[in-house]
Amino acid sequence: MLVKNKLGKVLLVGAGPGPVDLMTVRAVRAVESAGALLYDALCSEEAVALAPPGCVRIQTGKRGGKPSMKQDEINRLMLRLARRGLQVVRLKGGDPSIFGRVGEEMAFLNRFGLETEVVPGVTAACAAAAQFGFPLTHRGEARRVVFTTARVEDGAVAGDWRMGGDPEATVAVYMGAEAAPAWARALMAEGRAAGTPVAAVENAGAPHARLAEMTLAELGAAPLRRGGGPLLIVVGEVAALAANRSGHHADQRAFA
Ligand SMILES: C[S@@+](CC[C@H](N)C(=O)[O-])C[C@H]1O[C@@H](n2cnc3c(N)ncnc32)[C@H](O)[C@@H]1O
Repeated sequence: MLVKNKLGKVLLVGAGPGPVDLMTVRAVRAVESAGALLYDALCSEEAVALAPPGCVRIQTGKRGGKPSMKQDEINRLMLRLARRGLQVVRLKGGDPSIFGRVGEEMAFLNRFGLETEVVPGVTAACAAAAQFGFPLTHRGEARRVVFTTARVEDGAVAGDWRMGGDPEATVAVYMGAEAAPAWARALMAEGRAAGTPVAAVENAGAPHARLAEMTLAELGAAPLRRGGGPLLIVVGEVAALAANRSGHHADQRAFA
């Protein structure tokens, strides 16, 4: 049965880091009532399986180097499906407002007269911290959290890393695995101590999540070996509190 959407409201929904029990009740209800579900590569099969029979399911992002749909194509698809009267749910990994391009999608849809509603989700940094038993802020040690990302342009790490030089900032780096040595060195150049603890968490939230612990100097020295799942890197004194929990694999320096 396809769910009709008279108002033409598009829901931009955070799926959290993977397991459905880390989705909000509102997010689960949204997916269960979807007439059309457009979902990112990071959304789990479990989350997508909550969609009702007859729901149009479209994967918009492919993992493993395969091509993803262009943002403009996704925008137009949402518009077309909503105009057909379908309840469109745009499902994104983590929280839609953190590196989720939700601002662009809202602006596009609003421009064409469609209402939007954002349903928040558990972002990867919160899932990683909860799973491995460290806080993102900590009295007297970490007064700020910076959510940032890293990319390399013309062989150099792009962006301004001054905020990460602050010894009281926890820096959560999304999409930063490839460029890790370059941005780790940039942080040290901004004054962050070489011995600052680092926790790299792969597949945060999932039962097979893995933790690798190292110092900032070690991160800057060589590329990270990794498994292929999404990877978040947390730099700051709080990372020293990360612990190998519930049998999760912890490794020094790199994922085995
Ligand atoms: C396009 S961003 C989306 C972030 C997402 N909106 C969030 O709030 O978590 C994708 C990046 O987020 C991080 N990420 C997302 N899910 C993750 C997970 N389960 N474990 C570790 N890192 C994750 C990785 O750095 C990945 O490359």
